[in-house]
Amino acid sequence: MSRPSLPETRVKARPTTGVCPRCGVLRPEPFADRVWNLFFLAVQPGRHRSGMGDLVVHQVEKSLRGSGEQAARVLIVETSSTIEDEAARRFYEREGFDRNARVCKFCGPGADKIVSWKSLVPADT
Ligand SMILES: CC(C)(COP(=O)(O)OP(=O)(O)OC[C@H]1O[C@@H](n2cnc3c(N)ncnc32)[C@H](O)[C@@H]1OP(=O)(O)O)[C@@H](O)C(=O)NCCC(=O)NCCS
Repeated sequence: MSRPSLPETRVKARPTTGVCPRCGVLRPEPFADRVWNLFFLAVQPGRHRSGMGDLVVHQVEKSLRGSGEQAARVLIVETSSTIEDEAARRFYEREGFDRNARVCKFCGPGADKIVSWKSLVPADT
């Protein structure tokens, strides 16, 4: 198994103008094969639905793809099954992630963890 060669990073969108009202943490998954996890993506309330989240995800994907298949082959994101995370689930669906794992009660009583997945390589096997 190849190991990701890049460290955990705090991601920042780079809009052409203005401040960067968003943040997130990108981290290689331990014990996985070149899988990266984008955590804590958050856009400043009041700036939602202005394309900032989309910009962050695109920049993260571009950066990981640019680092090569030997470093990154899958990007995952995690949400919960709660109604509060409905927007995040819709957002990630729109970004092209497939929901493909559910861990029951991971986030608390009645709140499952939803893991969504996206390939970073043309023909992942
Ligand atoms: C989820 C989050 C990061 C999305 O960021 P954003 O900048 O508002 O999203 P964008 O403007 O880039 O949205 C892109 C698309 O995602 C979908 N989307 C985003 N927010 C949505 C919502 N509340 N309901 C339904 N669809 C939504 C839409 O299709 C949207 O495109 P459109 O606005 O042209 O219809 C933001 O809502 C947020 O910070 N939420 C709180 C923290 C959080 O839940 N983070 C996720 C980690 S679990």
